Formats: sequence, C-alpha cells, structure tokens
Amino acid sequence: MKTTISVIKADIGSVSGHCFSHPALMEKCDEVLEKALDESIINDYYISRCGDDVDLIMTHTKGELNEEVHKVAYDAFLQASEIAREMKLYGAGQDLLNDTFSGNIKGMGPGIAEMEFEERPSDPVIVYCCDKTEPGAFNLPLFKMFADPFNTAGLVIDPKLHDGFKFEVYDVIENKKVVLSCPEEMYDLLALIGSTGRYIIKRIFNKKGEIAASVTTESLTLKNGKYVGKDDPAVIVRAQSGFPAAGECVEPFAFPHMVTGWMRGSHNGPLMPVSEEYANPVRFDGPPRVIGLAFQIADAQLVGPLDIFDDPAFDETRKMSSKAATYIRRHGPFEPHRLPVEEMEYTSLPGVMKKLEPRFEDIDD
Ligand code: F6R
Ligand code: MG
Ligand code: MG
Repeated sequence: MKTTISVIKADIGSVSGHCFSHPALMEKCDEVLEKALDESIINDYYISRCGDDVDLIMTHTKGELNEEVHKVAYDAFLQASEIAREMKLYGAGQDLLNDTFSGNIKGMGPGIAEMEFEERPSDPVIVYCCDKTEPGAFNLPLFKMFADPFNTAGLVIDPKLHDGFKFEVYDVIENKKVVLSCPEEMYDLLALIGSTGRYIIKRIFNKKGEIAASVTTESLTLKNGKYVGKDDPAVIVRAQSGFPAAGECVEPFAFPHMVTGWMRGSHNGPLMPVSEEYANPVRFDGPPRVIGLAFQIADAQLVGPLDIFDDPAFDETRKMSSKAATYIRRHGPFEPHRLPVEEMEYTSLPGVMKKLEPRFEDIDD
C-alpha cells in the first residue's frame, strides 16, 4: 500500500493585517481534520501556520488529487473562513475563490503539494512553509539540496545519490513544463530557474523515477493576466537513504536568499528561517519567513515534527537576514527592493502616467 502526503494551504484571514492566523481558525481546521480521521479518510495530520497561511499536512493512502481528501481541506478552510468573517479578521476567506467544491481543490485558491510513494523501512520527510513570498522562492534551496555538491556532499560521496536528480520545471507564464536532468543539464536548468517568477521547480525525482520533492505552484498570482497576490508556497522534501540527508535538506536555508513577495507582494527581501512560534511577519509585513517541520512517516502516520529552525544554529542566519532586510529597505521605493513594474501586485503607475501624459514632451537632442 502506498502512502500519500498532501499539504494543502490557504490564507483564510488573519490578525493585524496579513500577519498571524488566529488560533480559532486552526482549532476549526483541527475539528474538521479530526472528523476526517475518525471517518478514515485520512490516517494522520498536523496543522501549522506561517504568517497568515494555514498549512494542513495530511497523510493517507488514497493517492494524489483525491476528491475525499481535498474536500476535507476545502471544508476546513470554508468553515474556518466563516469564523474569520465573524471575527472580522483581515482578508477573511481570501484564498477560497469558490464556495462550491467540484472534484478537487485545484484552481480554487489554496496551494497543493502532494506525493505518493512506497514507504522505505524508515522515511524522513521535511515540510517547509513560507509567507510573503512565491513558489519560485524554493528554486534556489531545492537546486542546492538536489544538485549542488557544495551543499550536498552525498552527490559526490554517496553512491546512492551520485547519479543525480531530475527536475520538473513549470513555465507559469506559458503554462508548459519541461524535465531537466542533473548533473548533465545543470546549466540549462539554472538558465531557467534563475527566473524565479516564471520557471518554477514543481517536482524532483531520482533517476529511478522515485519522487523526492513536491512544491505548491498553484498560482493566484497571474489571473486574467493580472497580478492578484503572491502565493506563499510550501514544499515536501524526502530525506536520507538515497535522498539528501536531512542536514543537507536544511543547509540551503542557512543563507537568507532574496525572494519576491515582501510588502504588498511588490518587494524583494531576504527569506528568514524561523520556528513556528516566530512565524509572524511584522516588520514592513515581513521579512518573508520560512518554517521547517521534520517528520518520520510510519505506516501513513506522521511521527514528529521537529521544528527545525528552532535552533541557535540559525541565529546567525536570522541576524544576516535582519541586516540584509535593513540594507535593502533603505532603497525605499527604488528597485531592486521594489519589484519592476510588470511584477508588482499593486501599481499606481498607469494612473500616474495618465495624469502626466499631457506634460510629456519629445526629447529632441
Ligand atoms: C499580503 C501582503 C501585505 C499586504 C499589505 C497591504 O500578503 O504581502 O504586505 O499586501 O499589508 O494589504 P491591503 O492591501 O490588504 O491593505
Ligand atoms: Mg495575506
Ligand atoms: Mg500569506
């Protein structure tokens, strides 16, 4: 029997702007998932949150895109949204675009990362969840985990990793996908995934075709050609025996790389790794945060989690990220802190251009 992990996440309302999902929302989700457990729809679950996003981590044996499992997540978000509305929380119900469920939750607003696999004798899995950024934020850390020998020693010295990994990359503008194999096509892969707003790593497989990582790439970002928000992604990563060691899966986050999605989804800022407790993006609505939850999967049960960034070994990263945040903040409304116009979630530029149009003159020198 194969095990499936489904991570389904949504922003259904928060306290103090877009900062913190109220415990009452998590409690309602807990109630709905507990019922699904009693009804044997799912085998286990863990509920977390990063900033204003609630992350439902569920294990079951029903495969990916399963209607019953997706309906559980949908019901949890729907019922929690009602509470958010009653409490007049900020952005109540914002990521649930439809109030009728039809088959699966894809395209309805929430982000979905799923993977189905035959459990190994012991199966460590890490789930990372972000706020104030977009799915392309995982391109750099995933590349490091699965393709960079300076990060992942196993690529060089462990015969089980030495063949490398295959990366499925989505072009979210053209709605196409391509699979690139590393190390053979590493430069081609980097040529794409360096453009984090367009080419996004969706899944990673080993050379035997076994799933290694899966990212939420559902994009509210480009609806009808218009930016409507960043998508605060999550990723599931398998670790150890044939995959990068847990420590190799954590190491890329020791560098707080610049990601897109801070303040009004329109600014770049460093990704700060924090414990669940500190996943509250407050400073200038940020800086963007990532939490990491490490589990063992045992007969479709979740053992754990270990809150992996709740560790003084990440204090230096947080300091570096605070320094980088202060540095880039001093650019105020200038690029590269503020995003280029075409990538901004909010822009007053068309209005400004319209107003100034009669005053623009030809340059005739
Ligand atoms: C939300 C976000 C926030 C908001 C900002 C303005 O994910 O990134 O920075 O964009 O707080 O929010 P509104 O437009 O709702 O007042
Ligand atoms: Mg929000
Ligand atoms: Mg959010």
